Amino acid sequence: MNHTDRLILSKRPRRLRTSATARKLVAEHHLRCEDLVWPLFVHAGKQSEPIASLPGISRLDEKSLLGACREAIDNGLGAVALFPVVDEQLRTADGSEATNDQGLIQTMLRLVKRHYPELLLVADVALDPYTSHGHDGLIDAEGRVQNDPTVAVLVKQAMSLADAGADIVAPSDMMDGRVGAIRIALEKAGYTDTKIMSYAVKYASCLYGPFRDALKSGERLQSDKKTYQMNPANAGEAIVEAGLDIEEGADMIMVKPGIAYLDIIHRLAKRYKLPVFAYQVSGEYAMIEAASANRWIDGDAALLETLLAFKRAGCRGIFSYYALRAAKLIRAQT
Ligand code: PBG
Repeated sequence: MNHTDRLILSKRPRRLRTSATARKLVAEHHLRCEDLVWPLFVHAGKQSEPIASLPGISRLDEKSLLGACREAIDNGLGAVALFPVVDEQLRTADGSEATNDQGLIQTMLRLVKRHYPELLLVADVALDPYTSHGHDGLIDAEGRVQNDPTVAVLVKQAMSLADAGADIVAPSDMMDGRVGAIRIALEKAGYTDTKIMSYAVKYASCLYGPFRDALKSGERLQSDKKTYQMNPANAGEAIVEAGLDIEEGADMIMVKPGIAYLDIIHRLAKRYKLPVFAYQVSGEYAMIEAASANRWIDGDAALLETLLAFKRAGCRGIFSYYALRAAKLIRAQT
């Protein structure tokens, strides 16, 4: 190169990108297996059942659930989140099956805890898997979701889950005051180590569609969840919601969905010092799967890039249906 063609630059940011080792040396953020929480669907059937809108994901029977947990541990994951797909005849207007100590989720929690005591178990607190109308709470004659009566049931549900072995209870219902009520009940009953991960900032999103298919709760939902889940137009309100849950005793907070709400994650992580999590929800998984099935994007690259983006935004950890696949990719890289 002729001297005259060359710029004399004191700063060339590209210097730090010239090799893989140089790029690794200066990487600001990392995705680790331990950062990931793997959501798993369980049902009472004798065999696993594929979920059409979530390619590669099934409603698991007991044996497959234990197999999945073994694989999770073997690949460096520390936590799984269990979601029950409840039999049709057990769904009622008041969702009372949620508080059945011998119910599906309670039974599965006990089973996994017995086999793998070191694996952290997350259990959702909300009534939608159990209600005939598909809402997260109790409804009145006009179909409005009732806050305070719902909180009373959620408290019983959370106690039942803690008793069955949930290390972390995760209220995903968006009722006001539920974190405080659950915390007081747990403390009074001596469950002082049970952690609360609050879905503090949960938006009324179209991206939960495949999850509702998985639970078979979508078609029964007569109306949307906009009177309790947040308006996607709001950011300041996320600070209010998170602040309340922290005051009420949440140990960790979550933002949901994930990738479209990185700005919210960033704001919360800057403002609050307790761990912030994101949920890369079912619709996000389905979008990546659909595009990669068409070979429009590289699925492995897309999942690693989106998961890393959550860390960069300020997340401590991420719930993702890709958790196991990501863990395998991370381990293969190192
Ligand atoms: C229900 C709940 C939902 C999800 C987690 N818990 C759906 C909803 O609020 O309708 C969504 C998860 C996903 O889409 O992956 N309380």
